[in-house]
Amino acid sequence: MIVKDYLISKLEEAFTKLGYDKGDVTLGQANNPQVADYQCNSAFVLAKKLGKRPDEVAEAIAQELEKYSKDFVATFSKPAFVNIKMTNEFLSKIANSVLEDPKNMVKKPEKPLKIVMDYGGANVAKELHIGHVRSPIIGEALFRLNKLMGNEVVTDTHLGDWGLQMGLTVAQLEDDGYLEGYFGRGTNKEITLDTLNEEYPKASKRKSTESDFKKKADDYTLFIQRKKQPFYQIYQDIRALSVAKIKEHYLQLGCHFDLWYGESTAEPYLNRAVQMFKDKGLAYMSEGALVVDVAKEGENIPIEKKSDDEPQRYRNPMPPVIIKKYNDADLYATTDIATVLMRNETYSPDKIMYIVDQRQTMHFTQFIRACKLVGISPKEQELVQISFGTVNGKDGKAFKTREGTTVKLSDIIDMITTKASQRLKENGIVGDQKLALMIGVGALKFGDLSNIVYKDYVFDLDKFSSFEGKTGPYIQYTAARINSLITKTGVEPGEIKVETDEERNIVISLVKMYESFTTAYEENSLHSLCAAVYNLASSYAVFYNNIKVNTEKDSKRKASLVGLSLATLKAITLGLDTLGIETPTKM
Ligand code: ARG
Repeated sequence: MIVKDYLISKLEEAFTKLGYDKGDVTLGQANNPQVADYQCNSAFVLAKKLGKRPDEVAEAIAQELEKYSKDFVATFSKPAFVNIKMTNEFLSKIANSVLEDPKNMVKKPEKPLKIVMDYGGANVAKELHIGHVRSPIIGEALFRLNKLMGNEVVTDTHLGDWGLQMGLTVAQLEDDGYLEGYFGRGTNKEITLDTLNEEYPKASKRKSTESDFKKKADDYTLFIQRKKQPFYQIYQDIRALSVAKIKEHYLQLGCHFDLWYGESTAEPYLNRAVQMFKDKGLAYMSEGALVVDVAKEGENIPIEKKSDDEPQRYRNPMPPVIIKKYNDADLYATTDIATVLMRNETYSPDKIMYIVDQRQTMHFTQFIRACKLVGISPKEQELVQISFGTVNGKDGKAFKTREGTTVKLSDIIDMITTKASQRLKENGIVGDQKLALMIGVGALKFGDLSNIVYKDYVFDLDKFSSFEGKTGPYIQYTAARINSLITKTGVEPGEIKVETDEERNIVISLVKMYESFTTAYEENSLHSLCAAVYNLASSYAVFYNNIKVNTEKDSKRKASLVGLSLATLKAITLGLDTLGIETPTKM
């Protein structure tokens, strides 16, 4: 149940009874938490409409509202506020319901959706780096949130395994003498992950300066796509080596995938997809490539040229999407379009969510429009990119190593784990690598997810991994403290009877947390949930300091306090679990 919705419905009843327009109901946070939990300020607007005094209207609302529930007290205060304060009985009811099952209070959408979620998206043959940190983290959390909401979700990591990087890597490996055996010219040299990490960057540099090499890489890419030997075999071997490492990293980050598909999985659908564009007359040749126009009105507006030899530029540019290269090879857009066809024929989802960097927005706009134009994606199906911002360093620029190179994902995992180990050591816990990883990953994930998804953020390891403040480890630490308090009391949790302000505040934080699940779901961003779980942990910390549970003499009261502690622990655990963060029992 969302308490706010419930209160709004009560206000609507009161408004109707008073002859006011229920569309005028507003409900917000109370200005003064001593006086109220929520506050309705509609009287100001209503008074103007009705030609009455605001205080009169507010008083009438408060009086009317009082009749509709025993769950709260409604009062009027000057100049024209309606204050709503939940009763201790009502709060107790909520707390008991959370204690029974923390999922009780989650408001699920009426009709569950079938969703395919596309996240992770690491590229085969390229080393994972800082740019690959956000998609699996955000994707995993959105997956969990959607499951919690009752949706049916299939997750697919959609590896980048059908593009030019494959041809580039093979061409470079050949030039460096690794592949003689494959070509029947001698013996192969052993290829390790380190080899790949060296070869791809080398190739990538060469492609812009050596046109022969670029041509060879283009050819090899096409050969791989056409499954020509030995190129296809080399590709498969490289892919297997690379995927093993990617799996290891995603596992460390606690990210799960139902499907370990890649761009290549859509291969059987590629020709059909391209043919559909041709059949409908949507594809045409342009500069040797096959393209589809996807621009809408108001896009591609020509900018006046200053001289005749200046190239034509456009405002709101939306170039056509290229679906076949000059040499007939498939491109990123081709595989994405064919993948929609594949997913629709296999799952027919209501929605496909792509959790991908903002910098790819043009690509997504283009291929999604193309899918709609050709009818691969039905009108009512939602194809949506959840685009996220960049991870920056403290200088506000994209996060780099001290030497100015990209930071590898493996280095990030090492950094956060080492940091967590140091902090744990301060708490007297030494050598627990599993716990250190749990806390390090918690720090990283919370640091990431607590930002509005589309914004850039600063990677601040010290801040993220602090055991104090709005961090993952602080919340994990609170959970561990609750756990040890419950164990120490040795008392079974009993029925919760909320009495003090400290207890009220915990339950109000619980109420807010359940609101935040809904907000996060609607916004496809987890920052509000992060804030709410932190808020709950903070409310508990005040309770922990002020209320002495252990020395409580009254056994019923003690059981109630333990019950409230357990309800909090369960709710924190649910919140963290939704974020993809594990809850430790000690810390
Ligand atoms: N492999 C891509 C990259 O690293 C991300 C894949 C995103 N998903 C997709 N369906 N395009 O940029």
